[in-house]
Amino acid sequence: MKFSVFASGNGTNLQAIIDAVKTGEIKAELGLVFSDNKKSLALKRAEEAGIKTLCLEYRNYTNKQSFDRDIVIALKEHEIDFVVLAGYMRLLTPYFVEQFPRRIINIHPSLLPSFKGIQGIKDAFTYGVKTTGVTVHFVDEKMDHGPIILQESLKILSNDTLESIEEKIHKIEHRIYPKAVQLFVEGRLRIKGRKVIVLDEPQFF
Ligand code: GAR
Repeated sequence: MKFSVFASGNGTNLQAIIDAVKTGEIKAELGLVFSDNKKSLALKRAEEAGIKTLCLEYRNYTNKQSFDRDIVIALKEHEIDFVVLAGYMRLLTPYFVEQFPRRIINIHPSLLPSFKGIQGIKDAFTYGVKTTGVTVHFVDEKMDHGPIILQESLKILSNDTLESIEEKIHKIEHRIYPKAVQLFVEGRLRIKGRKVIVLDEPQFF
């Protein structure tokens, strides 16, 4: 199987995935890294790892669908089977989601459905929750919404700061995202309504 990672910023989750492909923890080919931000560190990381990259910037488009249409064309050209969002800060159009049904996954730095959006860690911390965490989920047309694959919780201690929580959350992300990708690759995820059942044995496609 061949997949693409979408990233808009730092790309630390992308890096964890690149490393996991290298070590064989993820048994699939990372065929294309896409970014909507030409200054993103994610693109640099991909280039350094010798992975093909594509960057399209939304300001050169008049509407979301034509932007997503060009990305889909590139994904089909590269024979991409599934898409992994790793800090991709744009909402995919319903058109895009239909092109990869049940084949797009995302990571979010909170326990969904709480604290959706672009600053989940900060929102949870300033709200004062005692427990936050990380969610990996299938993507549908709504933001941070589709069926949940994995979640891991993290207790917020009285001496934690926003920075310490960010660090702990990213550590969890870098550990569980490659695991979730490999579960997908092994065909072990079955969606039943809002629920995702994780099968015990690999069911290779
Ligand atoms: C990650 O914390 C990811 O969970 C979050 O963006 C960060 C990207 O960091 N995604 C979202 O908030 C999606 N709503 P990275 O670029 O270093 O991987």
